Amino acid sequence: MTRVYENTPVLKGRKTYLGVLKVLVLVFAMLCGVHVCSTFLKQAQIERKKDLFESQVSGRPRRNNVIYQSQFSHFHYPKPQARLECGGNPVRLFVIVSMQRSGSGWFETLMNSHINVSSNGEIFGQKYRRQNVSMIINTLNRVYNLDLLTSSSKNECSAAIGFKWMLNQGLMDHPGEILDYFTKRGVYVIFFLRRNMLRRLVSILANSFDKEAKLLNGLHVSHVHSHEEALKLSRYKPTINVTSLESDLEKMESTAVKALEYYNSTRHIVVYYEDLMKNPNKLMQVEDFLMLARMKLKSRQVKIHKGPLSEHINNWDDVYRTLSGTTYERYIRAKY
Ligand SMILES: *[C@@H]1O[C@H](CO)[C@@H](O)[C@H](O)[C@H]1NC(C)=O
Ligand SMILES: *[C@@H]1O[C@H](CO)[C@@H](O)[C@H](O)[C@H]1NC(C)=O
Ligand SMILES: *[C@@H]1O[C@H](CO)[C@@H](O)[C@H](O)[C@H]1NC(C)=O
Ligand SMILES: *[C@@H]1O[C@H](CO)[C@@H](O)[C@H](O)[C@H]1NC(C)=O
Repeated sequence: MTRVYENTPVLKGRKTYLGVLKVLVLVFAMLCGVHVCSTFLKQAQIERKKDLFESQVSGRPRRNNVIYQSQFSHFHYPKPQARLECGGNPVRLFVIVSMQRSGSGWFETLMNSHINVSSNGEIFGQKYRRQNVSMIINTLNRVYNLDLLTSSSKNECSAAIGFKWMLNQGLMDHPGEILDYFTKRGVYVIFFLRRNMLRRLVSILANSFDKEAKLLNGLHVSHVHSHEEALKLSRYKPTINVTSLESDLEKMESTAVKALEYYNSTRHIVVYYEDLMKNPNKLMQVEDFLMLARMKLKSRQVKIHKGPLSEHINNWDDVYRTLSGTTYERYIRAKY
């Protein structure tokens, strides 16, 4: 750049004038250079930031089986009639989407142990609340406006309000309207699913047996709080119908996949029971997802069917033979 200026014909002439001019040109050139250089650097910085952001976004779906959607924050300021809430405290709305016997009861107690989380349990367990879609919307409004009082909800300073919704409780019957509602109100969806559907099947069969048998002192329970109780319940070993086993497992899996498809445009996270068993730090990802302060979360619930599956199934050999060589083979080998 300097050379161009130096060779300009105008500059040929008196020596001193030339000298002064040379200095001026040099200074000008330097200033120009600095300006160009800094502009270039700024641009490069912006580009780099953009790259970083883009790679974060594209890298976001499926990080440790956790799917992050948009990072927009949705705050709500409910004005409850029935509850004394921390006045004017903003809350986030969430829903735990799950299937029976997937460990979601345990997960919900963990969530509720957070001082700022209020999860209301299976509110759609009551049929009248899901009779038709307007009843569903009405119930959702009551929960999210903090006007529905349940025994599991909290009266403390809630920063996140939600409940547990099983796939067979109307959620799959009105996907259009419900998705619309979730989107409009910015509901955070937590899919809590099980990877091992065979273990889930054992839990379903054992639980349904216990409805009649009432193994714990004549009382039917779905969750226990001590190892003795867990042991008593797990003594019953269900016999699995191997004729329908493959199609039963297939149905369970495809229901979960369908739910993910219906609601995959929501702001959501997928948490697998097995992953949480292996790595309690997964809970931190859930806390981050709901933008809550990180806290140690606790539950009193104790796992019922511990140890190898072979010990919990009466006709284990049949089951083993049936699933060997199928896509469900992994279920018979998995630890959880
Ligand atoms: C939905 O069910 C409720 C309760 O039974 C009823 O009052 C209401 O009319 C129903 N709404 C529609 C749109 O069917
Ligand atoms: C969480 O709860 C505590 C105790 O009630 C309260 O002081 C705090 O403000 C709450 N945090 C949020 C973010 O609401
Ligand atoms: C096992 O499943 C098959 C196919 O669905 C069914 O026909 C049969 O009755 C079942 N057996 C038992 C004992 O439930
Ligand atoms: C959402 O579901 C649709 C329909 O099945 C599918 O095409 C799409 O890939 C899914 N998106 C994500 C992010 O899972």
